[in-house]
Amino acid sequence: GNGASVPVLVIGTGYGGAVAALRLAQAGVQVEMIEMGMSWDTPGSDGKIFAKVTSPDKRAYWLRTKTKAPVSNFFGFPIDATIPKYTGILDAEEFAGITVYQGRGVGGGSLVNGGMAVTPKQSRFSSILPSVDAAEMYATYYPRANAGLGVGSIDPAWFETAECYKYARVGRKHAQRSGFAWTFVPDVYDWNYMKAEQAGTVTRSALDGQVMYGNDHGKKSLVQTYLAQALATGRVNVSTLHQVTAVAPRSGGGYTVSIDQLDTSGNVVGTKSVTAGKVFFAAGSVGTSKLLTKLKATGSLPALNNEIGKGWGDNGNVMCGRANHMWDPTGSLQSTIPCSGIDNWDAGGAFAEVAPLPTGIETYASLYLSITNTTRRAEFSWNAAANKVDLSWQTAWKQDSINMAKTIFDKINSKEGTIYRTDLFGAYKVWQDGLTYHPLGGAVLNKATDNYGRLHGYNGLYVIDGALIPGNTTVNPFVTITALAERNIDNILANDI
Ligand code: FDA
Repeated sequence: GNGASVPVLVIGTGYGGAVAALRLAQAGVQVEMIEMGMSWDTPGSDGKIFAKVTSPDKRAYWLRTKTKAPVSNFFGFPIDATIPKYTGILDAEEFAGITVYQGRGVGGGSLVNGGMAVTPKQSRFSSILPSVDAAEMYATYYPRANAGLGVGSIDPAWFETAECYKYARVGRKHAQRSGFAWTFVPDVYDWNYMKAEQAGTVTRSALDGQVMYGNDHGKKSLVQTYLAQALATGRVNVSTLHQVTAVAPRSGGGYTVSIDQLDTSGNVVGTKSVTAGKVFFAAGSVGTSKLLTKLKATGSLPALNNEIGKGWGDNGNVMCGRANHMWDPTGSLQSTIPCSGIDNWDAGGAFAEVAPLPTGIETYASLYLSITNTTRRAEFSWNAAANKVDLSWQTAWKQDSINMAKTIFDKINSKEGTIYRTDLFGAYKVWQDGLTYHPLGGAVLNKATDNYGRLHGYNGLYVIDGALIPGNTTVNPFVTITALAERNIDNILANDI
């Protein structure tokens, strides 16, 4: 409540925040978590907690009046629909040059993501986080993160026969015929539940079009893993529909944290001020960067260094579709959870997920989300006139990523005698170059912070989320965000608590 005093306050309940809360609580520390989104635990009138990809309603989007689907068109026709403004689960946050998709609610991005839980190749780790001891990460912290997240692997024999992964088998065939390395990708989805969905013995979720607006079943989000464990300690409290707006040092020690309380239409219905001994910024790459950029510029935290807001990247995300021949149908029943990827990182700078297009009808389309080795990095800056934080990303920079993705798909198209789909992202548009699902950086490790996330300029302020990672992880990012948080909180517990 207003005027409360807490030893530790964590801003956000995604991967970084959940790791911090669990490990601090296990060490005996009382933790207050502040989350701007809702707690997703109550079914709507349709009996479901979450909306389907094919029929988004108010639950699907954070304070939008129109949906903003990443695949925005079908046969060229726009498919976005009007919805009531609501504190829904997926935020399509628009900056001048890019739309950044993020999860909102208890569990952060774990609520909306595909659950692809990829540990990068150790040989590539020094390009991701050069100041971090890779041997220690791969011996201790990646295994700890994988265990904590409940990462599992698809049964390869079942994969060969499952109707819902026909699209992935077509993706494999085309990748291998062009000489590319194709791999299974682990996931936090419960693979036994997936089998039961295919067999028709349980209520379907991944096989019923649920993913980026949440999964009612099967998916192990942080709510089922780290956050469940954290709450079970009895030392963690979560306040939902509460948004941190400021953090400032308090005379006499600690920090004053200012918080807006929201209603489900996004109106501010109250403001609170809380005193915290230590504050962990875990609001995600964009949330943490926006807060720190604003607080440095507007005088609340003037001693933060000039690395604040820098080193932001999109993990090189770019999407495309291919039109298959009639003899290569991808299936009308598609699992929303991807299970495989094409690795052309070393030769061409691209790692591509073989993604589903769960429309419920045969589309003969193969969809891919590529992660590419782009060196483009943007900066957040305070726009005093507009009273908001801007991001300097330019849409044209995606051309680097498109060129890298083309090292895979131009070759496959030429081998198969196929073409790119031109109807999925706007009429005659081959590449979805306007978005990222994987924002990274803005308060980079060993630059804006020390080598463990302690913000320079202040004692007791930490960054512990994707903002620490300088723009790219070579694969999907949440396992690395989790493993780095595990590493950093170990050091913070040993030295600061
Ligand atoms: P994260 O964004 O998870 O959490 C931040 C939390 O802070 C949010 O809950 C937010 O509401 C809250 N917050 C923000 N500002 C606040 C404020 N001022 N006050 C209070 N609360 C605030 N990754 C992967 O590895 N595999 C995958 O398959 C996918 N797939 C995927 C699909 C889609 C559609 C999306 C959007 C994302 C993915 N990702 C992914 C990316 C992954 O989800 C992402 O990298 C992590 O969630 C980031 O974790 P963080 O802890 O950095 O922040």
